[in-house]
Amino acid sequence: MTARVFLPVLFATTLLAQGGGEPAPRRGVDRGRDFLGLAPPADSEAAARGQKVYAQACSFCHGPNATGAEGPDLLRSSIVLHDDKGETIGPFLQKGRPDKGMPAFVNMTEPQAHDIAEFLHMRVEAAANRFGYKLQNVVTGDPKSGEAYFNSQCKSCHSSTLDLAHIGKTDPADLQARFLYPDRGNTKVSVTVRLAGGETVNGTLKRIDDFDVSLVDATGEYRSFSRNSVKLTIKDPLQGHRDLLAKYTDADMHNILAYLVTLK
Ligand code: HEC
Ligand code: HEC
Repeated sequence: MTARVFLPVLFATTLLAQGGGEPAPRRGVDRGRDFLGLAPPADSEAAARGQKVYAQACSFCHGPNATGAEGPDLLRSSIVLHDDKGETIGPFLQKGRPDKGMPAFVNMTEPQAHDIAEFLHMRVEAAANRFGYKLQNVVTGDPKSGEAYFNSQCKSCHSSTLDLAHIGKTDPADLQARFLYPDRGNTKVSVTVRLAGGETVNGTLKRIDDFDVSLVDATGEYRSFSRNSVKLTIKDPLQGHRDLLAKYTDADMHNILAYLVTLK
């Protein structure tokens, strides 16, 4: 049985079985699920679609695995943990908290919010699964087709015998996140801002949304500009990955993952 088990649920049931005390913390349980956490597994197709949207719209601030970067760790967010199918996350995204750096996604559709929710729930479970519970099989694709895709789309930047030679040792759920939207690590995005008067400012991108862009310039100074008064040139080493994101079909993603896990 692929039970949808959250660690806190196990603590709670253990306590109840011992017949005493307060139920343990209910993080995760409040998602409207059966108390024993045996509700159906997250919809993995929706989660894969959600991951694509997430990677483009959210990972820059919340990290590729949603464990936080400039923005907070979403796997501990009460908004995420109280959500079941996007009904809490959706309305939150529409409004954001612009005053606190969380942009409003006014054009986010309900199906997109639902898909993002499924992706985040899957990440929550994957994190709980580190403690010994196996995520359901995420590796369902065809490695041969994945290899063909790799040879045509990835080989210009990667090699299966050099930089990615042992990538298959990574946990499959992490690996999926890593190839869909690699961790920035030390790869910096450089940006050139051309002001209305023609002056240019170069630096490392710190933040960008529909309205503002901020960078740290060569002298280490933090500078912010309103986007409607400047022209931007952005050079991102991960642009190749962003372009691919728009192209993958669900089958491509499954096949690539199935191939990458063979690289051990
Ligand atoms: C420009 C950076 C940025 C982007 C892009 C962004 N976020 Fe955020 N997000 C933040 C910051 C900063 C906060 C914390 C706001 C606060 O302190 O209340 C936040 C808060 C949140 C929270 C609430 C966490 C909590 O429980 O308090 C959720 C949920 C969330 N973001 C989801 C998303 C999703 C989903 C996306 C993509 C559709 C996204 N964010 C895109 C910066 C960002
Ligand atoms: C235009 C260049 C480019 C293309 C095309 C590209 N990548 Fe990448 N990839 C990068 C860069 C840059 C990084 C981040 C730096 C690094 O870790 O090497 C990266 C990182 C990765 C990582 C994470 C490595 C790690 O150690 O965490 C994986 C996995 C990956 N790419 C797989 C792929 C796959 C699969 C494809 C094709 C579907 C692909 N890449 C296409 C440039 C590219």
